[in-house]
Amino acid sequence: MCGIVGYTGKKNVTDILTGGLSSLEYRGYDSSGVAVIADGKTKVYKAEGKLQNLKDLLATKQEELKSANVGIGHIRWATHGIPNEINAHPHTSTCGKLAVVHNGIIENFKELREKLEAKGCVFKSETDTETVAHLVNLKYEETKDLKEAVRLASKELDGAYALCIIHEDVPNTIIATRRNAPLLIGVGEDENFAASDVPAIIEHTKKAIYLDDNQIAVLKPNSIELFDSNNNKISPKVELLPWEPIALSKMGYKHFMIKEIHEQPDVIRNFLSGKLHSANEPVKLDEVKLDKEKLKNLNRIQVVACGTSLHAAMVGKYVIEELCKIPVDVEASSEYIYRTTVTDEHTLVIGVSQSGETADTLTAVKQSKARGSHILIITNRPDSAMAREADSLIPVNAGIEVSVAATKSYVAQLMAFYALALHLAEIKDSADKDYIKTLKNELLLLPQKIELLLTKKEKIQKCARMYSSSKNFIFIARGMNYATALEGALKLKEISYINATGYPAGELKHGPIAMLDETLPVLSIMMNGKVYEKILSNAQEAKARNARMIALTDSLDEKLEDLFDYVLNVPHVNEIISPIMAIIPLQLLAYYIAEFLGKDVDQPRNLAKSVTVE
Ligand code: AGP
Repeated sequence: MCGIVGYTGKKNVTDILTGGLSSLEYRGYDSSGVAVIADGKTKVYKAEGKLQNLKDLLATKQEELKSANVGIGHIRWATHGIPNEINAHPHTSTCGKLAVVHNGIIENFKELREKLEAKGCVFKSETDTETVAHLVNLKYEETKDLKEAVRLASKELDGAYALCIIHEDVPNTIIATRRNAPLLIGVGEDENFAASDVPAIIEHTKKAIYLDDNQIAVLKPNSIELFDSNNNKISPKVELLPWEPIALSKMGYKHFMIKEIHEQPDVIRNFLSGKLHSANEPVKLDEVKLDKEKLKNLNRIQVVACGTSLHAAMVGKYVIEELCKIPVDVEASSEYIYRTTVTDEHTLVIGVSQSGETADTLTAVKQSKARGSHILIITNRPDSAMAREADSLIPVNAGIEVSVAATKSYVAQLMAFYALALHLAEIKDSADKDYIKTLKNELLLLPQKIELLLTKKEKIQKCARMYSSSKNFIFIARGMNYATALEGALKLKEISYINATGYPAGELKHGPIAMLDETLPVLSIMMNGKVYEKILSNAQEAKARNARMIALTDSLDEKLEDLFDYVLNVPHVNEIISPIMAIIPLQLLAYYIAEFLGKDVDQPRNLAKSVTVE
C-alpha cells in the first residue's frame, strides 16, 4: 500500500526513483509520480495506472531532467480521492516550490484544509496529503528553515504519516519524517536515500537508519542529520539490512507467487533450524520471553490477525488447544479493536502479521499492550512497527514475499504456531510424550514431502484448466482444515476473482446446500484423521445434489474415484500437521487458474501487500 523513495546524490535521479518504486510495486498501487529539483526548479511528473506509464512519460523528459540531483517518488493506493493523475503524489504548495510524498492518512485534513484555504492556499487535489504541502510551505515562509517548518507542521498533523519533502530553495536536500508509518534512510557514499521499505534501496545500499516516530532526518548527499520532535540532535544508529537484492528476482519463474510456493520446503527448514534438530530434543524457542512459571500458569491466549494471517491463527488455535489445553480465542483485528474486549495482564496476546504493518492488527496489539498483556508477535518483518511493540518476537524468516497473495509466509506462520504449541506443551507437560515426538518427526520430514508434492503439480494444473470457467467454488473441510478451506478460497478469490467460499463441511446442510447443482465445484479437504469419515459423508450429500466433486486427500482409498470427479492426492502426514500439506495444492490451484485466465497474479486488482489503513 503506497510506497516512497527519495534520493539525493549525483546519479540519474529519475532512474533511481523509478527503480525503487518498481521494487515496491508488489505492495499494490494505482498511480505514481516523482518530483525532482532540476535547473533550480521543482518539477513534478505523475501518471495514472501502472508505473510503466510514469516511466514512459519520464523517458520523453530526459533533457529537462539532466541536471536533477534530488528527488522524491511515490506509488499511491487511493484512500482520499479517486485514483487519477491529479490525486497522485507528489503534491505541491501553491507556489509550486515545495513537493511532498506521503504514506498514511492525515485524519484532521478537513479542518486543516479549511484553515489553509482561508489563508489563500489553492488546492488542486482531493487528497489529505496536499494539506501537508501547503502547511509545511506556510511554516517555511515564516521560518526560512525547511526542517523547522516540517517539525512545526507535524505538530498540527493527526494520524499516520511517512513524509519526504523537497523545496527548490533548499538544494540537494530531503526532509524525511514519520509517525505510525514506516520510513527508513539508506546510507550511501556521496548519496543518501529515503524509502518506505527495504526493497526500494537494497540495490544501492545495505546500510540503513530506521526512523522512530516523530524523528526528522535531513538528508544531503554527504550528510544525514537526525532530530527529535524537540529539535534535539540525535546520533543515528546505522543498521545492516539483512536483505539480498536477489530476493527480489523471479529466478526464472513466471511469477513471484509460483516462486514463493516453491520456496516453502526451504522456508520450513529455515524456520526449524536452531529450533528443532531431532525429535529427541525439546523445541528451542528462546524468542518467547515469558518465564517458565508464567507459561505454565497461562490460562488464556488471544490471537489477533487479518486475512491469511488470521487463517494461520485459526490453525494455531486447534494446535495449541490440542497440545497445551489452553483456551485460545482468535479474532479478526478489525473486529477486536471496536468492541469491549477482556484481555488483561493474565492473557497472552499474539499478533500475527506477514508485514508487521497491518493497521488493524497494530492497533489491536497496542490496545492489548496498554491493558498489560504480554505481547507475542509472529511476523516476517522483525524490522516492522508491530515487532517494535513485541515483548516476545518470533520472526518467521520466510524471506521477502513479493506476491500480494501470501503463500510462504502462511506456511512459516503455521510453523511458528507448531513450534509455540510444542514448546508450551513440553513446559506444561500437557501432551503425551510419544505423540510430541511423532509430531516433531513429522515436522522434520515435512520439507521433503512437500518437495515430492511439488514434483507432481501437473495434475493440479490440469484440474485448474478443467475448472477455470467456474463462476463459483465451495471449499469444505472440518476441524483444523476448516482454516485451510478458508485460505484456499481466499487465494482463489484474490488472484482469479472467482467467487469462492470456505465452509465447515458439517454446515453445508444448514444453508449452502441450496446452491449446489451441476455447475458448482465442491472441493472437499479430506485428510486422514478424526473427521475424515464425517467429511466423506458431507461430500456424499453434495454429490447427491449433482455438484462437481473434487477431493484433496492423503487417503489412498480407490473408492474415492467413484465419488469424486477429480482427486488431488498429497503425501500422508499426521492430521495435526495436515494444514501445511493441504494448503500447497490449493495455492497451486489458485495460481494455475489465475494464470490460465491471464490475471495479474502477483499484483491483483484493488489489493495491497501491506494494508496500513484501518
Ligand atoms: C493474503 O493473501 C492477503 N493479501 C491478505 O489477506 C493479508 O494476509 C492481510 O492483509 C494481512 O496482512 P499481514 O499478514 O501483513 O498482516
